[in-house]
Amino acid sequence: MKFSPISLGLVLLPFVSAAVHDVQVGVEGGKLLYSPEAIGAQPGDQVVFHFHAKNHTATQSSFDNPCGAKEGGFDSGFIPVPANQTDNFPTYTITINDTAPVWVYCRQGGKTPASHCGQGMVFAVNCGFDDAPNSFANFKNSALAIGAKLVADAAAAPSSDAASPANTAPAAGYTTAPYGDYTIPAAPVPTPVTQPVTLGDQVWTTTYDSYPGSPDPTPVSAEGAVHKVIVGGPGKLTFDPPFIAAQPRDTVVFEFRQKNHTVTQSSFADPCRKPDNGGFDSGFMPVADSLTSDFPTWSITINDTAPIWAYCRQKTPISHCGAAMVFAINPVQNSERNFTAFQNIATAINGTAAAQSAGPEATGATKASGAVSIRTGSAGIALAVAAIFATML
Ligand SMILES: *[C@@H]1O[C@H](CO)[C@@H](O)[C@H](O)[C@H]1NC(C)=O
Ligand SMILES: *[C@@H]1O[C@H](CO)[C@@H](O)[C@H](O)[C@H]1NC(C)=O
Ligand SMILES: *[C@@H]1O[C@H](CO)[C@@H](O)[C@H](O)[C@H]1NC(C)=O
Ligand SMILES: *[C@@H]1O[C@H](CO)[C@@H](O)[C@H](O)[C@H]1NC(C)=O
Ligand SMILES: *[C@@H]1O[C@H](CO)[C@@H](O)[C@H](O)[C@H]1NC(C)=O
Ligand SMILES: *[C@@H]1O[C@H](CO)[C@@H](O)[C@H](O)[C@H]1NC(C)=O
Ligand SMILES: *[C@@H]1O[C@H](CO)[C@@H](O)[C@H](O)[C@H]1NC(C)=O
Repeated sequence: MKFSPISLGLVLLPFVSAAVHDVQVGVEGGKLLYSPEAIGAQPGDQVVFHFHAKNHTATQSSFDNPCGAKEGGFDSGFIPVPANQTDNFPTYTITINDTAPVWVYCRQGGKTPASHCGQGMVFAVNCGFDDAPNSFANFKNSALAIGAKLVADAAAAPSSDAASPANTAPAAGYTTAPYGDYTIPAAPVPTPVTQPVTLGDQVWTTTYDSYPGSPDPTPVSAEGAVHKVIVGGPGKLTFDPPFIAAQPRDTVVFEFRQKNHTVTQSSFADPCRKPDNGGFDSGFMPVADSLTSDFPTWSITINDTAPIWAYCRQKTPISHCGAAMVFAINPVQNSERNFTAFQNIATAINGTAAAQSAGPEATGATKASGAVSIRTGSAGIALAVAAIFATML
């Protein structure tokens, strides 16, 4: 008896003829291979990847770009397996939907000489025959050519670090964003600190999450300092200055110049997207080319010492964020999560949003930055301010 796919789907028979294909990832001895490397499969079949020791992925790519994630394609994510594990390997399963070829690679090592893909770690379902242009051999050879170029480029680079493949693999604790092979430094782990804060003759206790590089939570004065930031201007897609240091109670005044910009809060790992859970946003501030004074302004008050990341969300005619129009308050400049790193992510993703598929670090953003925040709350600060004003009157 022969079932049509539709009747199968409707009655969910348990003995469907769909086959299960097992593929070993990183076969014994830590070889950078999928085994088998290429299979044929029917629509409805399942391919089960079994992850052996090391830390691999099964990520969909395309024939034309063997070592780059296909937009909207599947991705197992990194699956680390200890060297002493000999059975019960973790698995990741995909379902074959049609007869089109499916191209897969391991994205470990990113765009470095340590790239697993560049060392031939690729896999295919329903690729062309051996003499066809889209044969598995042609696919794997183009992956190997990418790897050879990465090794050659690194050897030619002046940095001695880059020449050694061992030094170029991303260190543990880093997340690799799935929108490319861009590496995002891990958020620092905060330590809770309870500290008395002195302002004039006022002293109060504040509890906050501190991490290396946290600024001091002491306000400069009861009313705070004022920082002016110029946004845009003729022929400029910039915030000037691009980043500032500010204390709680300070005010940041954004002065909007020519064109039509915003200042919108984002996050380190996802520089060009306003988090779903809030963040500030000035809205669009169009300024006529002829205006020479009385530029519109928009202000925020600094409530704590956590790094604040922001961008311009104008996308017409080009993405301003992708053109590096980003801004930061209190970035930790002597860490890898510095302003330049933030700006590099914005340009690497060319102004698109990274968060749909990036790890948890990329979402929830403002909180996840391992940041300082004064937990006395605005009421505590308001009270202290009121008390100071009262004594001054
Ligand atoms: C692997 O080694 C670790 C650390 O020595 C140990 O805790 C773990 O139980 C071992 N796992 C297996 C499967 O032997
Ligand atoms: C099959 O379709 C599902 C649902 O659209 C998708 O998640 C999956 O990645 C597809 N499988 C392949 C091999 O493309
Ligand atoms: C697996 O590799 C990724 C990317 O290099 C890395 O972020 C992650 O920390 C690694 N996991 C382990 C347990 O080594
Ligand atoms: C400013 O930009 C936004 C978004 O592109 C657009 O909707 C709006 O019409 C623009 N305003 C002016 C006055 O050009
Ligand atoms: C400070 O707190 C106020 C009130 O909750 C809020 O409107 C403002 O956006 C906060 N400032 C920043 C920089 O988040
Ligand atoms: C960046 O995005 C713009 C659209 O905003 C597009 O025209 C341009 O080709 C992209 N650049 C790269 C390098 O992908
Ligand atoms: C700042 O970020 C850049 C770009 O990621 C990086 O090259 C540099 O080493 C970082 N600085 C520090 C002090 O970590």
